[in-house]
Amino acid sequence: MSELPTANSAALSGRLLVVGLGLIGGSLALAARQRRLFSEVIGTSRSASTLREALELGVVDRVESDLPTALAAMGPGDIVVVGVPTLTVPKIIAQLKEHLAPEVIFTDVASVKGSIVTAIKAIYGSVPEQFVPGHPIAGSEKSGVGASLPNLYDNHRVILTPLTETGEAHTARVSAMWSGVGATVSEMSVEEHDEVLAATSHLPHLLAYSLVDTLAGMEENGEIFRYAAGGFRDFTRIAASDPIMWHDITLANSSAIVEVLDSVTDHLQSLRKAILSGDSEHLLGVFTRAKEARHRFQIMLDNKAYLQTMGSTEVQYRVEPSGVLQGHARVPGDKSISHRAIMLGSLAEGITEVSGFLEGEDSLATLQAFRDMGVVIEGPDKGRVVVHGVGLQGLKAPAGPLYLGNSGTSMRLLVGILAGQPFDSVLTGDESLSTRPMKRVADPLALMGADIETGEGGTPPLRIGGNRALQAIDYQLPMASAQVKSCVLLAGLYASGETSVSEPAPTRDHTERMLRGFGYKVKTEGGQVTLTSGGTLQGGVIDVPSDISSATFFMVAASIADGSDITLSHVGINPTRIGVINILRLMGGDITLLNERLAGGEPVADIRVRSADLKGIAIPEEQVPLAIDEFPAIFVAAACAKGTTVLTGAEELRVKESDRIQAMADGLAILGISAESTADGMVIEGGQIQSGEVDSLGDHRIAMSFTIAGLRASGTILIRNCSNVATSFPDFVELSNSLGLRVSEENQ
Ligand code: S3P
Repeated sequence: MSELPTANSAALSGRLLVVGLGLIGGSLALAARQRRLFSEVIGTSRSASTLREALELGVVDRVESDLPTALAAMGPGDIVVVGVPTLTVPKIIAQLKEHLAPEVIFTDVASVKGSIVTAIKAIYGSVPEQFVPGHPIAGSEKSGVGASLPNLYDNHRVILTPLTETGEAHTARVSAMWSGVGATVSEMSVEEHDEVLAATSHLPHLLAYSLVDTLAGMEENGEIFRYAAGGFRDFTRIAASDPIMWHDITLANSSAIVEVLDSVTDHLQSLRKAILSGDSEHLLGVFTRAKEARHRFQIMLDNKAYLQTMGSTEVQYRVEPSGVLQGHARVPGDKSISHRAIMLGSLAEGITEVSGFLEGEDSLATLQAFRDMGVVIEGPDKGRVVVHGVGLQGLKAPAGPLYLGNSGTSMRLLVGILAGQPFDSVLTGDESLSTRPMKRVADPLALMGADIETGEGGTPPLRIGGNRALQAIDYQLPMASAQVKSCVLLAGLYASGETSVSEPAPTRDHTERMLRGFGYKVKTEGGQVTLTSGGTLQGGVIDVPSDISSATFFMVAASIADGSDITLSHVGINPTRIGVINILRLMGGDITLLNERLAGGEPVADIRVRSADLKGIAIPEEQVPLAIDEFPAIFVAAACAKGTTVLTGAEELRVKESDRIQAMADGLAILGISAESTADGMVIEGGQIQSGEVDSLGDHRIAMSFTIAGLRASGTILIRNCSNVATSFPDFVELSNSLGLRVSEENQ
């Protein structure tokens, strides 16, 4: 048998005695022996044939057939591992009490900890310091010493449940033994362990045994098993496990198992009812929620971040200077419209079918929040999402806080909806969202009678008290913000009376448009939007256009890269979003709108962009709200333009996913461009972009803007902290390269 190098030989010495050489004990002995963790590995068993086999297979150095003799020979520094079936453990403990010296550590491997601790107390009178309860979460449906595997514990978890009486040094030593055979060791209380294991291990075994036994008892079982392929095989693999072991575990952890068994039984009963009554909604709800949960568990099991938040698996972009952009592309769906499609689709009556949905982390956070409030949502599958609306009054209380990642839009719009619900809720976000101003939504909602509590300084988390009778207000927005406008309008759906919002300058009107699309009456007059509660939303079809904010990066890229000619298809050109087109044209950009049409109530076009000699301008202030997300990219256009570009009236840029004025001024300065930040804007002198290393500060739009700057740089640009590009533009790197940029993504 091949021997592994000794990783931990210095950390552990002494002898290991394994009592009971089944799969678990045998594998531990074999792994410890191969890695030379102990000076000697000894095995005992009641069965002479097991001892013989253990010796033949090299599982142990030596065997001892008489347990009292083996125990009496152990001394300080040695470890005894009790590896017998759960219900046999007490018998062994009685012998330990009689023959094992109090200085010798002993531990067990039983899948249930409560019953073992009870037995210990009964036999010893109290828990001895030398006992460290343990449970390796590893196994196989195979059993016996012959199934021993030296790598059974590699990357598996071992849970130790030390008691207050357990010696700390003893716990550390048992922990070192398990780490030495490759396991990851964690600690929890006995009670928690037994509840968690009942749900994650014991019940699944019970269900597998039950299904196989039920099918085996059916008359035509031969036929059934002949055709039982994939699903049956996957689900019932563990029904081949050791019956004695599972009998013991089931009885030893009976109360925790019965508790989850009752929940599953109720759940199965409701599925049965749904099947009989043809309740597709119920079935789809169960299946989509479970599929999503399974996906999340898998990501957890694979040790990956669910939403790639800052600092987890960070990536950086390396951009090489390149020449020309050519070709056609379709950028992902509009983020603002995707959020609203989920929100209004959920609050509508009937089904809403969405195509072109942005599968970015921000809009997925909104989708998940509504799932958490009981809405059945199918997909997303290549941009297709089907929302089974629950009506304005149909949301259910979420089980815990709703986590919205990096997404300000999710939080600011959702709080308006939640203010009108009969349940309490909490909204949280990532590091960046947790610093963003929420008083701007909390203030008008408070005027409506809502109960909103922000964190210190008016930032998330937001706590929303339910069951408030909201009153309509006539609100004058202090800043041009579509998020605040939408928040008040959505709360207005639940407020008695007529809710009006007046804006200081036009901002994106997707909420108003979509409400009308769902059959809700919304009046827009001058700068004032008005709606009255009491109506209903009717689900329908939503075709989400490509996001002009994502298209912007390539509009600027093609403008600044000599000889470029690209067409971006099906881009939303809502008049409240086209500031970037207006501004680039004022700078001399060559942009043509082709094939203008309406898609689901929103104007769209194919946008052809050819390179042009850009010149610096004073950006008209009325364009600022219409291009609010596009300034980081426009700053890059300004850096490549002839002369000076001046932006004013854009203080809102300081409270986006980052302080975008400072982030861009700092980065451009590093790249050799004269960029001077002001309180509400920037002054940029066009010039030659140099190579350098810049930080996006985890802001997706800063990361993408510096990427396109690379086109005109004298050398490589390295951009740090780019993983949040996935919030709005999941395939940015691939699409960029397909159009002619040279970007590579690398782990930071
Ligand atoms: C958005 C509105 C804008 C924009 C954000 C999306 C929306 O924010 O910056 O990316 O979907 O309503 P403000 O309304 O706060 O300016």
